[in-house]
Amino acid sequence: MKEIKLSTSFTVFDDLNELSKNDKALFLEAQTARDNAYAPYSNFQVGAALLLDNNKIILGNNQENAAYPSGMCAERVAIWNASSQYPKSKILKIFITAKSNLKKVTEPVSPCGSCRQTIAEYELNQDTNIEIFFMGEIGKIIKSNSLKDLLPLVFDKKFLK
Ligand code: THU
Repeated sequence: MKEIKLSTSFTVFDDLNELSKNDKALFLEAQTARDNAYAPYSNFQVGAALLLDNNKIILGNNQENAAYPSGMCAERVAIWNASSQYPKSKILKIFITAKSNLKKVTEPVSPCGSCRQTIAEYELNQDTNIEIFFMGEIGKIIKSNSLKDLLPLVFDKKFLK
């Protein structure tokens, strides 16, 4: 028996002004998507903006449903939107932002487990890292250099064949 230790590191930015001009602009796109979210049940709006290697920006936001499990997260709406329009393009970066009607979201909101698994599918297929930036409504931004840092010991297709 032995113990293995996994280590990872993330970059933390104090606010949007610490980002490059292009990355900040992509966060503004994610904010626009967030503000168009359909989230009447949770009152928690999430927006995602993807930058593809063909320079296209693809947006998504959470879409809720009266039958709660029929709703979908912003990240997966954006990723499937990208894959359905540009199946051959790589995803370079994902920007995520969230706000709530109930309280000010001041901490970075990281993608949920199912969204991490979905991002993993595309990162592993394209064989290049996806940078993931996430924040609340205001405040700090966390940047992960790869999905693998958010989902160690990932389940992927190599187990299936
Ligand atoms: N949500 C997202 O859009 N992305 C996440 O990564 C976490 C949660 C949405 C789903 C639901 O509409 C609301 O936030 C509350 O969970």
